[in-house]
Amino acid sequence: MVTGAGGALGAELVTRLGAPGTPPGEPGDAVVGLTRAELDVTDPAAVRAAVRAWASASGDGAGDGPAVLLNATAYTAVDRAETDPDAAAQAHAVNADAPGLLAAACAEVGARMVHVSTDYVLGPLPHGARRPLEPDDPTAPAGVYACSKWLGEERVREALPDAHHVVRTAWLYGARGANFVRTMARLARERDTLDVVDDQHGSPTWTADLADGLIALGRSSAPAGTLHAAGGGGTTWWGLARAVFDELGADPERVRPCDTASFPRPAPRPAWSVLSDASWRAAGLAPLPPWREALHTAVRHHPELLLG
Ligand SMILES: NC(=O)c1ccc[n+]([C@@H]2O[C@H](COP(=O)([O-])OP(=O)(O)OC[C@H]3O[C@@H](n4cnc5c(N)ncnc54)[C@H](OP(=O)(O)O)[C@@H]3O)[C@@H](O)[C@H]2O)c1
Repeated sequence: MVTGAGGALGAELVTRLGAPGTPPGEPGDAVVGLTRAELDVTDPAAVRAAVRAWASASGDGAGDGPAVLLNATAYTAVDRAETDPDAAAQAHAVNADAPGLLAAACAEVGARMVHVSTDYVLGPLPHGARRPLEPDDPTAPAGVYACSKWLGEERVREALPDAHHVVRTAWLYGARGANFVRTMARLARERDTLDVVDDQHGSPTWTADLADGLIALGRSSAPAGTLHAAGGGGTTWWGLARAVFDELGADPERVRPCDTASFPRPAPRPAWSVLSDASWRAAGLAPLPPWREALHTAVRHHPELLLG
C-alpha cells in the first residue's frame, strides 16, 4: 500500500510496483496506491479503515508479497511552514502525527511500514567534520518541517519497534511536480547568468532510483531500523545546477556560485547533508546510482524535465 500516491515519490512507487514485467514489479504484487483525495492520512478513522481493508484484501489472496505500507505523504512547503501558523499545524499533522497513525494501524494488522524521512533531521558533525552522514550521526532538526519529520520518525519507531524502516533521503527530483532540476532548466532559458548557492552540500536523488530502493527494502528481510538512501556522492546546489546546464548543452560557466546568506529563506537548510550509503549496503541492498549518472538517466527517460 502506498500513501501519498499523488506525490513525486508516491506516484513513482505506484508506477514501478504496478507495471507488470518492469523491474522491480513482480507478478503477484497487489498494489493499493492512495492519493490524498482517497485517503487523508491525518484522519485517524479513515487511516484505520483503509489499512484494515487493504490487509483483509491481501489476506484473501489479492497479493502474494509481504504486507508493506510505503508512506510517501508529507507536508513539504518548508518555508511556508515557518511563516504561516496554519501551515505549521498542517506540517505537524501530516509529518508528525499521521506517521504514528499509519504505524499503529500497521501494528494492528501485522504489516511492516517503510516511512520516508529527510536529511533535514540531521545536525552538524562534531568539530565541523565533513563526511557522508550515517543514521546514528547526531540529529538536530531546525525549523518546523525538520522538527515535524523528526517527530514522525519517532512515532513510527515507537508504534512498530520491530517492523519499521525509516528511510532518510535528500534533494529529491521526480518526473512530476516542481523541482530544482526543472527550475534550473527554465532559468537557463530565461537568464544569461544565474547565482546558485554553493555552500550547501547534499545528495541529489532521482525518485525512480529511490522508489526502486524502497521497493527492494520492502521485499527484503532487513531488520527494523533507520537507513539512509540517496543518490551516490554529493554536490552543492551550484554543482547540480551546472550539471543541469551540461545536460541541456548550455555553458555551465553561466552558473555562478554564491553563498546561503545571499538567498535568505525562512526555513534553515543544513550546510552539510551528504548521506552515506553504508547502512543501505549493510542491509543487503544495492546502493542508489551516483547522482550525476542518475541525472543523465533521468533526463534521457524524461526529456520533459529539461523543458522546465
Ligand atoms: N522533495 C525533497 O527534496 C525531499 C527531500 C528529502 C525527503 N523528502 C521526503 O520524501 C517524501 C516524499 O516527498 P515528495 O517530494 O514526493 O513530496 P510531494 O511531491 O510533496 O508529495 C507528498 C504527497 O503527500 C500528499 N499529502 C499531503 N498531505 C496529505 C494528507 N493529509 N493525506 C494524504 N496525503 C497527503 C500530497 O498531496 P497534495 O499534493 O495534494 O498536498 C502529495 O501528494 C516525504 O516524506 C518528504 O518529506 C523529500
